Amino acid sequence: MTARKIIIDTDPGQDDAVAILLALASPEELEVLGITAVAGNVPLPLTSKNARIVCELAGRPDLPVYAGCDAPMARPLVTAEHVHGKTGLDGPEMIEPTMPLQDQHAVDFIIETLRSEPEGTVTLCPLGPLTNIATAMERAPDIIPRIQAIVLMGGAYFEVGNITPSAEFNIYVDPEAAKHVMASGCDITFLPLDVTHHALATQARVDAFRAIGTEVGRTVAEWTGFFERFDKEKYGSAGAPLHDPTVIAYLLWPELFSGRHINVEIALEDPLTLGMTVADWWRVSDRPANATFIRDLDADQFFSRLTERLARL
Ligand code: BDR
Ligand code: CA
Repeated sequence: MTARKIIIDTDPGQDDAVAILLALASPEELEVLGITAVAGNVPLPLTSKNARIVCELAGRPDLPVYAGCDAPMARPLVTAEHVHGKTGLDGPEMIEPTMPLQDQHAVDFIIETLRSEPEGTVTLCPLGPLTNIATAMERAPDIIPRIQAIVLMGGAYFEVGNITPSAEFNIYVDPEAAKHVMASGCDITFLPLDVTHHALATQARVDAFRAIGTEVGRTVAEWTGFFERFDKEKYGSAGAPLHDPTVIAYLLWPELFSGRHINVEIALEDPLTLGMTVADWWRVSDRPANATFIRDLDADQFFSRLTERLARL
């Protein structure tokens, strides 16, 4: 089996960090060509630093990390320090990374990689606002048919919003970028809040991370423990949703997930619904299906397989 080539576009964030670790723990299935940082949970200087911290934690200081767009396409940046802490990776004490940030801009890396790799062999995995991806598409439309697939964390339908009553954070922060990506005609899969709210890092699951007994296991337990405080209070649930790793898990184990191929549109007009993913789950419109929208997963399998993979690092 040849490994599937992916680019992880990310705004770490503790859950982004776990997603990166899961990908790097799975080299037989996934070849990470590079990590592109975008402004989102925290500003770009921090997300591009955090991505390197995670690579070093995984023992992969050789992996190229690129800094991308520092603000959404058409509006000021909204961040989420209230969830992720001041650094974006609050929880355990993290050391300064020593591996370099690449000189090339993330958008140029995405364009160059899609042009140089064989057509249809690179999958994009956005875990934050879609600014880098949409900017690359706008600047170089020739890359669009070369993209194998886009598997992203973002949106919500049944769970509606987490940053406004109607919108999920990643789509809300750069709704113009999301609209642009949806218009591309690419093969797009959403891992929305509808599925991530079933991936709860309960105490037993956090304990299992810690029980790995390694630096990675301890760090992941402390990260999930950190943003659990906020989400448990907000939702009154047994643990915080571990959003972004579902993207990588979907690539590794699609049999754990279920969803529908439906029409999804991004609301842009009304401030009340800005960034809402209007998903035609019940197929009540005649708008054509343009995305796969995942709704459920086998959470026990997800956490046990994730824990097993993290133990390999
Ligand atoms: C998404 O927003 C961020 O806070 C998380 O990293 C995740 O990508 C969830 O809405
Ligand atoms: Ca994220």
